[in-house]
Amino acid sequence: MNRFAIISGSHRSPSQTSKVARFVRCMIERELEGVECDLLDLGETPLPLWDPDVRRFAGPWERLWRPVSERLTESTGVILVTPEWAGMVPAALKNVFLLCERNELSHKPGLIVALSSSQGGAYPVAELRMSSYKNTQFCYIPENIIVRDVRNVLNDYDHPNNIAAEEISLRRRMKYALTLLVEYADALKAVRNSGVIDLASYPFGM
Ligand SMILES: Cc1cc2nc3c(=O)[nH]c(=O)nc-3n(C[C@H](O)[C@H](O)[C@H](O)COP(=O)(O)O)c2cc1C
Repeated sequence: MNRFAIISGSHRSPSQTSKVARFVRCMIERELEGVECDLLDLGETPLPLWDPDVRRFAGPWERLWRPVSERLTESTGVILVTPEWAGMVPAALKNVFLLCERNELSHKPGLIVALSSSQGGAYPVAELRMSSYKNTQFCYIPENIIVRDVRNVLNDYDHPNNIAAEEISLRRRMKYALTLLVEYADALKAVRNSGVIDLASYPFGM
């Protein structure tokens, strides 16, 4: 059994990112067996910027972060859905990596789903792969998805936009990436259970 957490990384609501995140959840529920799904939408449930109190779940963090932290801890894989904003990942999504100080993502597989209203989407993939794994020990799988021309695709699960021919191949590719994520999730359970991981000695990456 796997439990995937989907994080919708746009902090506006409604957003195209949220639309894509819900589409991914629908695909998992309808087409993958043995995978439960949990969606955290940073537009609907905003999180404050990191401060040191998060380490003790002090103040608002008890209510705002503890439940999310526990849900992420229970997950066996994480899907990050992110827009490209000014060639970057939104600050709200980067903030999540600062908040994950309890090994919530440690040695778990991650799938990036980036999107753009035009032909962008590559920059957030590069940014996440470069800078978000060091202290979280998050493991991005090699496959990722880029949803271009996002407003015109993935609007109705049962009725793909046949005019946008790319939508059919995009859905196939998304199913392939999610199926791969299941295999990585199963494989990395063995790594987490191996007894080799020593976060007491090496909590932060070099
Ligand atoms: C502040 C801002 C900056 C953006 N910068 C880019 C960009 O650099 N490249 C790009 O392809 N799209 C860019 N877009 C367009 C987004 O790809 C588009 O708005 C998309 O719907 C994702 O935003 P949303 O999930 O918040 O709706 C930008 C949008 C906003 C709001």
